[in-house]
Amino acid sequence: MYRSHNCGELRIKHVGQEVKLSGWIHKIRDKGSLIWIDLRDRYGITQIIIDTNESSKNLIEQVKKVGREYVVSVTGSVKERESKNPNIGTGDVEITLTEIEILNKSKVPPFTLDENTDGGDELRMKFRYLDIRRNSIKNNLIFRNSVTLEIRKYLNELGFIDVETPYLIKSTPEGARDFVVPSRINKGEFYALPQSPQTFKQLLMVGGIDKYCQVVKCFRDEDLRSDRQPEFTQIDCEMSFVNQNDVLLVFENLIKNIFKKCIGVELDDFPKISYWEAIENYGSDKPDTRFDMKIFDCTKSSKGKGFKILDDSEYVCGITVNSAEPLSRKQIDQYTDWVKQPQIGAKGLIWIKHNNDGSFKSSIDKFYNHDDLLKIVGNFSEDSTTFLISGNKMKSLTQLGQLRLKIADDLKLIDPKKFCPLWVNDFPLFDWDEDDKKYHSIHHPFTSPKDKNIHDIKEPSNVVADAYDLVINGNEIGGGSIRIHNRDLQNQIFSILGFSEKEAKEQFGFLMNAFEYGAPPHGGIALGLDRLVAVMNGDNSIRDYIAFPKNNSGRDVMIDSPSPIDNDQLDELNIKLK
Ligand code: AMO
Repeated sequence: MYRSHNCGELRIKHVGQEVKLSGWIHKIRDKGSLIWIDLRDRYGITQIIIDTNESSKNLIEQVKKVGREYVVSVTGSVKERESKNPNIGTGDVEITLTEIEILNKSKVPPFTLDENTDGGDELRMKFRYLDIRRNSIKNNLIFRNSVTLEIRKYLNELGFIDVETPYLIKSTPEGARDFVVPSRINKGEFYALPQSPQTFKQLLMVGGIDKYCQVVKCFRDEDLRSDRQPEFTQIDCEMSFVNQNDVLLVFENLIKNIFKKCIGVELDDFPKISYWEAIENYGSDKPDTRFDMKIFDCTKSSKGKGFKILDDSEYVCGITVNSAEPLSRKQIDQYTDWVKQPQIGAKGLIWIKHNNDGSFKSSIDKFYNHDDLLKIVGNFSEDSTTFLISGNKMKSLTQLGQLRLKIADDLKLIDPKKFCPLWVNDFPLFDWDEDDKKYHSIHHPFTSPKDKNIHDIKEPSNVVADAYDLVINGNEIGGGSIRIHNRDLQNQIFSILGFSEKEAKEQFGFLMNAFEYGAPPHGGIALGLDRLVAVMNGDNSIRDYIAFPKNNSGRDVMIDSPSPIDNDQLDELNIKLK
């Protein structure tokens, strides 16, 4: 009734046919004797032409009534275009209009629906349904669908079973705050929305499901960034009778498979690096290895020359920047200011410039002669610059790691077409929190220590986790681990994390009980789908890969949520606002 073809379908072979299309008016150009309409739908744009000398008065009147984004049905015959448009699939043809029906009117949209829209972020979010009509957002959603589909196919072929787990649950500790939902029937009690289906997928293993997967929404009340949303989607998986290598093999092949099928990229085998290797070489546990500029340790070589700052430092590390143009003093000063800003937090930045005659100029010339500097920088090339940061080991490495990324970005050292996936493993199991005076799990409390440490758990800081992260181009795309399946060990971990026996029982009694009924060895992983599709498409921000995302304050400005609820509803839930 509405269409014989869609707006992206017509080609030369259709010339002479009578067709009917439905869609939105993308553009109208009225040149008096000729009127052109670009009609758009999800599939493309087709040009409609009206010769005002040859058309009936009635038809012209109808055409003159329509405006941008009106929804219309048009009938006409396909003809070859005189001036073709090679940029679109339908660019060889146009439709000579014989009939037009207005299906719905439209107000003038608040921003242009072209690729380079004049709409700011907030406006686009408020009218997200219009934003989705734009090619870039629409194509992102189509791309996301193709990736999800390939993942489902792949996992299905391997025998994974898609099982839905509940959304109204009890807290799952993944390191963020929970979103909570009050229960009307159980007054004063709350559900928590899952930060992940972690405990349920482990219970499915106890239930003998063996290979589980789910494309699942997760909810985390944490500060938002470009790669974080309060609700996001995981490809969540769990397998029984596996060790770390078994899991990595399945998911490395999954990633290789979707890169090939969805973007035509063949990936090499993923390197594996340990957490400490990542931190010491890149100052990050999610290193971007698309460029080199590795961090080096110069703690020893920089000491003993009377420069108190370095002499007294726990750690001194450096990076050497090889750029096409040598860095200017102005750039060096800018980087010094940049690392000192509170978000980075370095006290200062030492620089050593290598001139093309082999000499050095540095901010520490007073204390270090040519040979001393040579010892610190090791190998260098002419016209390069070395930066040093000193202080606490972890802090210095992290600060230099951030500078490394900033410089690479500024100097365009990263090939945007390149993909560098890798596995990071051998994470510490625990992290000591100086403020809370408590250990925290780096992954989550269900992660197994590596075999050799199981009996050595009395010294928590030394325990290595049987955990792994998938990193692509500096983004943490997934994380997982081999789990504890033994009740006593799980109890031991809870006690190191500061849970009393009572607290552990209250929060995780169901899991502990399950472990008494023959829990198989198991492990798994969850991939962040939003991040994966964004990174595959060369983006760091996930927002435009989600149909209806939240803004940076966690608001959906389109539906205006969160919003107050009325007093009756609060009473019913037994909630009193202060
Ligand atoms: P983890 O907490 O590492 O592991 O989460 C897995 C992946 O989910 C993505 N992710 C996010 N994406 C967008 N917005 C967020 N707020 C957000 N938080 C996390 C990341 C991350 O790598 N249950 C474990 C998995 C397991 O052990 O099997 C878990 O959830 O890409």
